[in-house]
Amino acid sequence: MSQRSAPFAPGRLLFGGDYNPEQWPREVWDEDVRLMRAAGTTTATVGVFSWSVLEPRPGEFTFDWLDEVFDLLHRNGIGVVLATPTASPPPWFSSAHPDALPVEADGTRKVHGSRDTYCHSAPAYRAACVRIATALAERYGRHPALQAWHLHNEYGTLCWCDHVAAAFRDWLRERYGTLEALNDAWWTAFWSQRCSTWEEVLPPRATQYLHNPTQAVDFRRFSSDAMLERLREQREAVRAAGSTAPVTTNFMLPTWNHLEQWSWAAEQDVVSLDHYLDDTGPDGEAFVAYAGDLARSWAGGGPWLLMEQSPTSVPLRGRRATRRPGEFTRHSLSYVARGAQGAMYFQWRAPSAGSEAWHGAVLDHAGADTRLFREACSLGAALGRLAEVAEPPAEGRTVLAEVAVLWHADGWWALEHQVLPSDAMTYPEAVRDVHRSLHGAGIAVDFARPGADLRAYRLVVVPSMYVLGDAAVRSLQEFVEAGGVLVVGCLTGYAAEDLHVVGGGYPGRLRDLLGVRVDELHPLAEEEPVALSGGSRGHAWSEHVEPGGAETVLTYESGSLAGGPAATRARSGAGTAHYLSTRLRGPDLDRYLADRCAEAGVEPVLGRRPPAGVEVVRRRGARTDYLFVLNHAATPVLVTGPGEDLLSGRASGAGLTVAGGDVAVLRQAQRGAADPWTVVAADEVPGALSPATPR
Ligand code: GLA
Repeated sequence: MSQRSAPFAPGRLLFGGDYNPEQWPREVWDEDVRLMRAAGTTTATVGVFSWSVLEPRPGEFTFDWLDEVFDLLHRNGIGVVLATPTASPPPWFSSAHPDALPVEADGTRKVHGSRDTYCHSAPAYRAACVRIATALAERYGRHPALQAWHLHNEYGTLCWCDHVAAAFRDWLRERYGTLEALNDAWWTAFWSQRCSTWEEVLPPRATQYLHNPTQAVDFRRFSSDAMLERLREQREAVRAAGSTAPVTTNFMLPTWNHLEQWSWAAEQDVVSLDHYLDDTGPDGEAFVAYAGDLARSWAGGGPWLLMEQSPTSVPLRGRRATRRPGEFTRHSLSYVARGAQGAMYFQWRAPSAGSEAWHGAVLDHAGADTRLFREACSLGAALGRLAEVAEPPAEGRTVLAEVAVLWHADGWWALEHQVLPSDAMTYPEAVRDVHRSLHGAGIAVDFARPGADLRAYRLVVVPSMYVLGDAAVRSLQEFVEAGGVLVVGCLTGYAAEDLHVVGGGYPGRLRDLLGVRVDELHPLAEEEPVALSGGSRGHAWSEHVEPGGAETVLTYESGSLAGGPAATRARSGAGTAHYLSTRLRGPDLDRYLADRCAEAGVEPVLGRRPPAGVEVVRRRGARTDYLFVLNHAATPVLVTGPGEDLLSGRASGAGLTVAGGDVAVLRQAQRGAADPWTVVAADEVPGALSPATPR
């Protein structure tokens, strides 16, 4: 396994995007490279969907064009992130191997004509992937321009075909040992689902009515593991060909939930993420922070790499968010503040045709004389000035957060497939709500794997993690015993990993730790929130909570539960375990979590909530720390404290004004000293606005 032995430290922050020279005549390449240089480009991601051009006929490779691309980029000081093109097999492959085309749950076999038309478990596909990965690695694995391997692209194409059914059975045999154990785990006495031979065990294909939820969640787990095995095969092919360049594959947020990221992260030299926005403005900023914090956490504290984002818009999949001027820059620096080793994007040059012709591109159809291209040039220059930030701290964590939110794909899959008394409870929404609140309060947040050592944290929040394994329960107990503050949201710990509900009262797996017993569930209609003490409102879900050893923190004040506890607190060892039996939103959740932070002694990054619309993030470097002040608001802020803004070269000691929409990255003169900085709205400080920011 190529577990990250050393942090990914490319020596500078990477900047550049998906580059498809094969779509253009040769003379365009020279213009590309000239403009890439103007934009401060360090890296081009090449080959992502180039299979039919690289291997036009089985086993016949045409590398001459890619040789030239490598050499051209290298001569111009631009590195290459080389993708294996396996996300899009060529037409000849699909014609020769129709059994390697993906099959839908309803049995429809897809045809060639888009991309991602493969079955991850088809033997012919596996062999073809290893062959092209080997050929690329033999040819380019030692090329001096090669910065990293980008294996495949966004693993996540599921398939329900017979190859998959066979592989699923193997995976289940491994997990359960016997058919008997599988039948027990899947609770197959229900609806006459008991299997008497392994051949009767199937993926959750289209069926008459509801699926077996344990089967459905096991299928998600299996699919993630099967695709991870494909990643390993490609990684081994690259290594066997003698290439030692770091290996990654790009995760995808927000809607892509096909991978169990913790186990995938462990198999890569650097975690990389594609992140596309649903919204701009404040929620876009919060979403960037969420994605950056997740990616850093998957990377064990970072560093990681932002592989794709759109410089402007994504006219796809119903997403219409278009970044406003300046957001490409501020968002990129927000990812960097959170441990990203660069801000890569999709795509360099917009194609003239094809289904992504109107997708945001740094060089769009209008050419280089655009506001966006000028913004890209200034962002490239800014990232160049931040080169030293890319040197990671020896001890690994690039951001020191005191709060962790538990994250696991199981939580998402379980809520998606479990048939619950309410459809309104979705995992990603529950997690994002918690992150949005904490981020809005200026608090640094990590995500943690269930079962992880939580000793680094003062506060741990578990939003709607329906299934909890033994290790996860133990680690939460230990965390509280040792003095931590735990917040458990509703729909957590109802079941073990086999999705069997723990009897005796909810939330069965955590009942003792939380000191409560829930004996009735009262889902709420969307339009009927319930009133809580202190003026808050509970949404979507409520429960009849019997406090055992717990005391009441919030009370239901309306509805059938009026007078009963809505939120509780129980002491355990040196710590406290909170339970929240309904969903809080917006300012109500903000207030609730602010109280928990205060209880745990967790403070915003500089000990004070930053001015509205301003993000303050501290990134740890090799020798010192860097304070990123991202002013998303329209009005200036004033930063004081000893240090230097790497972007403008100005010293901050006497006070540095960061204009609305601008960013400062301060190098702390000396790490470890008591926190030397303050960030306040400039109009709070008489005379702060002169002289104006020279940017
Ligand atoms: C994904 C892919 C890219 C491109 C973008 C469009 O992230 O990796 O090739 O299709 O989506 O947003």
